[in-house]
Amino acid sequence: KRPAGAPDKALAKPVTKVGVLGAGYMASQFALLFLRRLQVPVVITDLDQARVDKGVGYIHDEVGKLAEKGRISSDEANRLRALVTGTTDKADFFDCDWVIEAVFEELSIKQDVFAEVEKFISPDAVLATNTSSLSVERIGAKLEHPERVVGFHFFTPVAVMPLIEVVKTLHTDEATLSTAMVTAANLRKNAVITADTPGFVVNRVLAKLLGEAMHAVDSGTSFETVDKAMAPLGLPMPPSMLLDLVGLKVGAHVLDTHHAAFPDRFYRSENLHKLAEYGTLLEKDAKGKVKGFDKGALKILAG
Ligand code: 3HC
Repeated sequence: KRPAGAPDKALAKPVTKVGVLGAGYMASQFALLFLRRLQVPVVITDLDQARVDKGVGYIHDEVGKLAEKGRISSDEANRLRALVTGTTDKADFFDCDWVIEAVFEELSIKQDVFAEVEKFISPDAVLATNTSSLSVERIGAKLEHPERVVGFHFFTPVAVMPLIEVVKTLHTDEATLSTAMVTAANLRKNAVITADTPGFVVNRVLAKLLGEAMHAVDSGTSFETVDKAMAPLGLPMPPSMLLDLVGLKVGAHVLDTHHAAFPDRFYRSENLHKLAEYGTLLEKDAKGKVKGFDKGALKILAG
């Protein structure tokens, strides 16, 4: 028997072609996952050809690495590469039945991108957003069919993190929700349905953790000490590395969004903005292995 509140899987619509709006870090990672797990054509777009080429290039490289590791055959690698196309024209999304966006995390940009793509797609196609902390309902507010909008929030590294937050708005219909849940299962991820509140569940808790870590640093404890102090709690990585993984700009933006929504409960760190502007917190070797804290970053934190 279906648990109370769970969508009826029979209502799920087939996903035969995926459109990805945005070709950045997150979008390229999940485009690869859709390609690999659903084995359907994936079309990717971004603002210009250079960005599109970078996203498609990332997927080609990662497919090559999977073949090198023996996870897929070279035939499959060739087949997967042939299923990916890049475009700068959203009209090429016309036959996509699942479109997902990971464009710049600003409400008006996401609204406009969805409204533009809606002109080309079928009224049945799902529009999913990977937003990490904006209101999914507001992202769909300019659409003719807001009932097709759902949050579909991945975590980085996408290939490894097992969770997707499926965010239901007041308008999301059963068929859309069901398609999202079945798609998450086909991607071999665990999905949870969350309310459309800032940060959903995971980012809300992470924003608290990272915000408090930054507050401790801004109050005079070294970042090294904060990392060391947190280690026995069994986090998969210390706060500094988590910030580095998420990206300093994204991290600062997530904290800001939470602070704006709940000013008394979430901390906004000016230093985190300075670090994001500077570009790095950690010093790494050529292979990307962390060597320690970046000296310039430590200077910024020292004030
Ligand atoms: N990209 C892709 N794959 C990666 C990766 C990366 N950046 N980092 C590690 N992996 C893969 C490795 O290739 C390896 O895969 P394999 O077993 O198939 O070879 C696997 O992950 C395990 O890697 P390692 O053994 O080298 O490393 P760890 O055991 O230390 O695990 C980790 C690495 C999975 C990244 C772990 O440290 C972790 O879970 N960290 C926490 C990550 C986290 O909290 N993510 C959520 C961020 S918040 C977010 O994304 C939301 C957004 O809205 C801001």
